[in-house]
Amino acid sequence: MRLTVIGTGRLGATHAACMAELGHEVAGVDVDRGKVAALGAGRVPFHEPGLAPLVARHTASGRLRFTTSFEEAGAFGQVHFVCVGTPQRQGGDAADLTCVERAFAAIAGHTRKGALLVGRSTVPVGTADRLAAAHGVEIAWNPEFLREGFAVRDTLRPDRLVFGVRTARAERLLRTVYAPLLGAGTPLVVTGFATAELVKTAANSFLATRISFINAMAEVCEATGGDVRRLAEALGLDGRIGPAFLRAGAGFGGGCLPEDIRAFAHRAAELGVDLGLLRQVDAINMRRRDRVIAMARELCGGTVLGARVAVLGAAFKPDSDDVRDSPALNVAARLGLDGADVTVYDPVAMDNAREAFPLLGYALSAEEALRGAELVLHLTEWPQFREVDPVRAAALVYRPRIVDGRGVLDADRWTAAGWRFWALGGSGPVGAAGESREGGQR
Ligand code: UDX
Repeated sequence: MRLTVIGTGRLGATHAACMAELGHEVAGVDVDRGKVAALGAGRVPFHEPGLAPLVARHTASGRLRFTTSFEEAGAFGQVHFVCVGTPQRQGGDAADLTCVERAFAAIAGHTRKGALLVGRSTVPVGTADRLAAAHGVEIAWNPEFLREGFAVRDTLRPDRLVFGVRTARAERLLRTVYAPLLGAGTPLVVTGFATAELVKTAANSFLATRISFINAMAEVCEATGGDVRRLAEALGLDGRIGPAFLRAGAGFGGGCLPEDIRAFAHRAAELGVDLGLLRQVDAINMRRRDRVIAMARELCGGTVLGARVAVLGAAFKPDSDDVRDSPALNVAARLGLDGADVTVYDPVAMDNAREAFPLLGYALSAEEALRGAELVLHLTEWPQFREVDPVRAAALVYRPRIVDGRGVLDADRWTAAGWRFWALGGSGPVGAAGESREGGQR
């Protein structure tokens, strides 16, 4: 089929390349000339493992191209996917739908007869209905569930497909687009617009709730001397609960979970439904950042003023260069404002971090960040940080004190190397001060 993908950010560029991989002819459309030029030359302007080779291969073969012209896209495509962003509105919790509305209006004005417009952006429930009424074109909603860092895999081997449709024809067209995935056994849920829109926000809300639940348990562990890592392990072994998204630590960030739960609670309130649960989830999540800062202060003897702090990690999670609402950078910036001398290192997010927080210090390697540090904060769980040798690291720092804000470092190894080791949620001993393992942190 001939498809267009409107919006060539992380979601759209991935979708376009993966649709080409499925055998379609694809035109990616964006108003940003720079992005279109880069992608057209086979270059991906952000970090997404596995995407660059796909874009390069399919732009070279001619199956994938990029354009800024909606006229050209409208004449070309049988199905148009809208993959533009829906950030949080300035000064409020609601989603900003400006880009979605513009994209639908722009393509609706140029489509061929019988074309289908498919929304993939995360939108407040009711949006598809409104867009269909406003533009008088056939619309479907097909939410994406891509994780950054696994976007290619999640598109080519999704856990499920959801089609929000009003007509058998729209369903047929989407079945044709995704025929290779459906043929390979990908489960499909066909539903109306509202449910399709809700699946995405409900899924992200549920994931956020799991993380905040385990982080609330971390708070209880900190108050009682429990160990949240062991607690999560035991909870996850219950087949009804499962182990995923039960990692306690500095909490969730990024461009999706925090914004989506706020926009969802906001939309629910407009509809007269109280989703106070999600406000709690948000509050617990933000408290975790405060807790890291409180630990930093305590470990530095009451104030971080003038303290040399090494922050390992800037991206909101590993395998990504995305620093939007990153717990790591949020903590780093707040410590900087408190007068700490902060040096950040991240394997791939340095440019984005520097752009967002130009006043923080940045190092070219973990070793360089550690050199002379009085306190180390481990805030993004990149595998390479897990491999840092605590003995070598102890020789680099001024004082061996570390907060594991992601609950993945081996407390015994670090304390054996002479480190004073704190983890969120009570796991691990305090170390050099000689306190006991359980309850020793308090
Ligand atoms: C998420 C959803 O997973 C995806 O389906 C949706 O389409 C977009 O939002 P993403 O934002 O890429 O994807 O991040 P995800 O992997 O879900 O992680 C979100 C945040 O939660 C990260 O900051 C991560 O570090 C944190 N997290 C995750 C935890 O703190 N604990 C966990 O157990 C899991």
